[in-house]
Amino acid sequence: MVKVAVVEGDGIGHEVIPVARAVLAAVRPDIEFFDVEVGYGLWERTGCACSEETIAGLGSADAILFGAVTTPPDPGYRSVMLQIRHTLDLYANVRPIRGEGVDVVIVRENTEGLYSGVEWTEPDRACTVRVVSRRGSERIARYACTLAKSRRHLTVGNKANVLKSDCLFVDTCTREAARAGVPCTARYIDALSLDLLMHPDRYDVIVTTNIFGDILSDAAAYLVGGLGMLPSANIGERAALFEPVHGSAPDIAGRNVANPVAAIRSAAMLLSHIGDPASATAVEEAVGRVLCADIRTPDLGGSAGTREFGAAVLREVGQGKA
Ligand code: NAD
Ligand code: IPM
Ligand code: MN
Repeated sequence: MVKVAVVEGDGIGHEVIPVARAVLAAVRPDIEFFDVEVGYGLWERTGCACSEETIAGLGSADAILFGAVTTPPDPGYRSVMLQIRHTLDLYANVRPIRGEGVDVVIVRENTEGLYSGVEWTEPDRACTVRVVSRRGSERIARYACTLAKSRRHLTVGNKANVLKSDCLFVDTCTREAARAGVPCTARYIDALSLDLLMHPDRYDVIVTTNIFGDILSDAAAYLVGGLGMLPSANIGERAALFEPVHGSAPDIAGRNVANPVAAIRSAAMLLSHIGDPASATAVEEAVGRVLCADIRTPDLGGSAGTREFGAAVLREVGQGKA
């Protein structure tokens, strides 16, 4: 029995996650789902967006399927997403960008950097400390090198020309790549961002620090149809969480127009993680066939609703099994 925790979260999480969950249930009837509520909506009702006990509950699952949470820019509010990533030590944020002529994986360090949580506010200034540790860099470098070893090469996105913390990051990644026998190039993140959009074929696995990976992955969505398309995995030693790269999209929430592909692809990554790559491939192929049949949500120029797109994927998944 596989136990999957399901968090819809806020906004379009309530729309795309039921679709992804239905696809999971169709390919793996043995999965036992349990719902967990976290997020801004819960905070508005109860004053607590996510408790430590809730996170412990998430950690007891074999995998977590997560939608998105709304984070208001309120200095008193702690991002639920960061709380979960830190508490479960989900150190590797893996963001594949696949589409026509594009096959890149961004591996984002997920626990430190500018998201170290070391910050304070004084009357006339506010400080956030960018922590890059040797341990943190080594483990993300090893993760990226293991992935790059079965692919082609590694690029280290950095700003070591300016930031001392990135000198440590680049050194560590370069050393790990040499040890693993992986061809490795360091590139400054500003030039890399443009080059990735202009020449995606030059890139394979990109490893980078926390916020650079955050920004680079949203920008890279441009290559494959936008944010509705990109899945991600947050991997730790003892827990793993799968979520679309996009957020709760309050501007389109509640209208059945959100693209569920990113959420469905996140479910496919979850299937690989629990040791079922065949089902993962079946889901990916079903999504591909639906898109080829020109069934698309409005962000891709179509007129299908979230639920209608999901129903089409479910039909394809069913046929794939027959
Ligand atoms: P967003 O990713 O929610 O939306 C950015 C733009 O992309 C919006 O115009 C939105 O309509 C569009 N979009 C996103 N996903 C889409 C989809 N599946 N289909 C069609 N269009 C889609 O980013 P934002 O607007 O900057 O942030 C909104 C909220 O989400 C904020 O509170 C932010 O903190 C939060 N957020 C949460 C997560 C997470 O939970 N992991 C990730 C990013 C942002
Ligand atoms: C993401 C999001 C998060 C991040 C926010 C919601 C904390 O943008 O997962 O990409 O900045 O990492
Ligand atoms: Mn982001």
